[in-house]
Amino acid sequence: MEIVEVKGKVFRKFITREKIDQVVNTLAGRINSDYAGENPLLIGVLNGAFIFAADLIRKMEIPCQISFVKYASYTGTQSSKKVTELIGLNEEIKGRHILVVEDIVDSGITMDHLLKELHKYRPLSVRLACFCLKPDAFVKDFSIDYLGMEIPNDFVVGYGLDYDGYGRNLPEIYKLEN
Ligand code: IMP
Ligand code: MG
Repeated sequence: MEIVEVKGKVFRKFITREKIDQVVNTLAGRINSDYAGENPLLIGVLNGAFIFAADLIRKMEIPCQISFVKYASYTGTQSSKKVTELIGLNEEIKGRHILVVEDIVDSGITMDHLLKELHKYRPLSVRLACFCLKPDAFVKDFSIDYLGMEIPNDFVVGYGLDYDGYGRNLPEIYKLEN
C-alpha cells in the first residue's frame, strides 16, 4: 500500500520492508562483532521499539538477554518535552554491558533521561541502537552507537511507531502527508 489512513490522517509509504531489513541486518552485524565474547543486556523502550527489538534480537549471534522499560513523552504528533516513567528497570544493570534499543530519537529528551537513569546503576557500558533519528529535532548531545538511518523532521508511523496508539502494525514506515 502506498497510502494508508491512520485515525483520519493520511500517510504515504516512506521506508520499504527491504530497506528496513537491510538496516536491521547491518546494525546486527556490527553489534555481533562489537560484542563478540560479551553477554549484553538489551533494553528495549516500549511501546515503539518492540518490533525493532524483536527483529534485532533474532539476528543476535551472541548470548544476550532482553528487558523492557516504558517511558512516555509523546501525545498525538507532538513531543510533550516531559518524560514519565511507566515501567521501570527491574534487571540487574550493575556490571553489565547495556544496549538500549529504541525505535526513533526525535528531540532526544526521552533517551537522554533513560541514559542518565541507567548510568546511576553502574553498568560496565551503555550503548544505544536506534532505528532512526530526526537530526533536525534533536536537542540533546548523546551519541547513537548503532544508528539505522536519519529521517526528516516529519511524523512517521509503522514498524512499531504509532499515531495515538494506532499504526504500529504496519510492516513498513509511512510519513504524514502535509
Ligand atoms: P523524543 O523524546 O522527542 O526523542 O521522543 C521519542 C519518542 O517519541 C520515541 O521513542 C517515539 O516513541 C516517539 N516518537 C518520536 N517521533 C515519532 C514519530 O514520528 N512517530 C511516532 N512516534 C514518534
Ligand atoms: Mg519509542
